[in-house]
Amino acid sequence: MAASVPTSYTDKVIVSDEVAEFSPEIIAEMNAHLEKYPPERKRSALIPLLLLVVQRERGWIDNAGVNFLAKYLDLEVTDVWETATFYSMFNLRPVGRHHIQICKTLSCKIMGEPEITGHICGKLGIHPGETTEDGKFTVSMVECLGSCGTAPMMQIGFDYHEDLTTEKLDKILESLK
Ligand code: FES
Repeated sequence: MAASVPTSYTDKVIVSDEVAEFSPEIIAEMNAHLEKYPPERKRSALIPLLLLVVQRERGWIDNAGVNFLAKYLDLEVTDVWETATFYSMFNLRPVGRHHIQICKTLSCKIMGEPEITGHICGKLGIHPGETTEDGKFTVSMVECLGSCGTAPMMQIGFDYHEDLTTEKLDKILESLK
């Protein structure tokens, strides 16, 4: 059955019956995740499989990857999409090699997020939600990342960068070039 999914990024409806294919090694990795949960609770493996396998392998959560997981976990595609669209850690479109996620929630906001965002976007020449032309950087604005005590902060890949200043940002961006 076709999936019909509006994304928060494009407001377009994407429809595809394509099902992703993965190598035997990746399937074995998925099976290892699945074995951590009772057989009747396959759904519990959904978040790890989305994040640690499908997004890593395909670069983002696409229709074909979702269709695969729905079959693999005996779920409806809507079950997979309702999880994938809930958490900002899932990329619903392709992102750059370095995905910069800036926290825009209250503590970070009052501790300097607007200056941080302006500085990063100014240096990269993009707006939040965009990717640089060379495909190296994507900037996204996300809700609280649970590091309010060290605001303002951002996440790049799986790493947190905290107590941000413009000087720190310059060093971080330089190290990623
Ligand atoms: S408000 Fe930014 S990490 Fe919580």
